[in-house]
Amino acid sequence: MSEYAIERVAVIGAGKMGTTLVHAFLQDGDVGPENIIATRRKEEPLSRLAAAEGVQTTTDNREAAAAADMILLCVKPQGVSEVLEEIAGEFGGGKVLVSIAAGATTAMLEESLPEGTPVVRAMPNTPSLIGQGMTAICGGRWAEPDHVEVTRKIFAGMGRTVVLDESYFNAVTGLAASGPAFVYIIIESLAEGGVKVGLPRHIATECAAQACLGAASMVLETQSAPALLKDDVTTPAGCTMDGILKLEEGGLRVTLIKAVVEATKRAGELVE
Ligand SMILES: NC(=O)c1ccc[n+]([C@@H]2O[C@H](COP(=O)([O-])OP(=O)(O)OC[C@H]3O[C@@H](n4cnc5c(N)ncnc54)[C@H](OP(=O)(O)O)[C@@H]3O)[C@@H](O)[C@H]2O)c1
Repeated sequence: MSEYAIERVAVIGAGKMGTTLVHAFLQDGDVGPENIIATRRKEEPLSRLAAAEGVQTTTDNREAAAAADMILLCVKPQGVSEVLEEIAGEFGGGKVLVSIAAGATTAMLEESLPEGTPVVRAMPNTPSLIGQGMTAICGGRWAEPDHVEVTRKIFAGMGRTVVLDESYFNAVTGLAASGPAFVYIIIESLAEGGVKVGLPRHIATECAAQACLGAASMVLETQSAPALLKDDVTTPAGCTMDGILKLEEGGLRVTLIKAVVEATKRAGELVE
């Protein structure tokens, strides 16, 4: 196993996720702002990032990649090939690529890079923006366990992490990365229910969101099966059971299962 420590980091594509990663590095403190270089094509948001965080910025991906020993690829999946073509020449000497692009497999990424380049793939989700993320991580053909562990620690600053075989990545994308969108719809719908029975909208939304947050925390903290926790809420002949009957009638379970299955299928088609 190699002794791997990061000294300089390049964040290629400092959009939502890329900027969150910059914050995660700064919070972790192992890499100072002077050793972080962020890129994107638009200069204005880059200047704002530099002013706010003290990191270096450039619109030149090659310059950023040349200056770093870990390169985080945070552009949209459709932009991955173009950027890799641009920066591939800067790899070698143990430089590591960490990609968060949905659907881009380590094998695809490795194909565009010099043989032997360590590649780590991570799949975060948007709650990472507030430190409540879920990130799956796997190493490619030439990634050492240290590369995976260093990457895991970076994402641990943004929420929970799991190191997983890459064969699960489309499933994790369909569930954990798309999942927040499904849950927002559930929260929105619960709140509409609250409005329908007379609650002011802001109170209904707060009640719905906190019910989801509390229920999620119960699952994670008690480690109990959701079905058992649900049983605790359903008093015999009580009101919850009547609500559950309506959920079953409307096919909520089957609909959510199908949503994850469809999102998983699509995750496998994002990068060609
Ligand atoms: N959002 C999520 O929930 C989520 C979850 C898991 C994984 N991901 C992955 O994270 C990646 C980024 O997603 P995001 O939501 O952060 O998107 P985003 O906010 O649009 O960020 C992408 C950034 O890439 C920059 N960019 C585009 N082409 C570039 C180029 N040639 N060179 C340098 N920078 C370039 C864009 O800025 P300019 O237009 O200024 O160039 C933009 O700021 C995607 O691959 C996505 O699959 C996202």
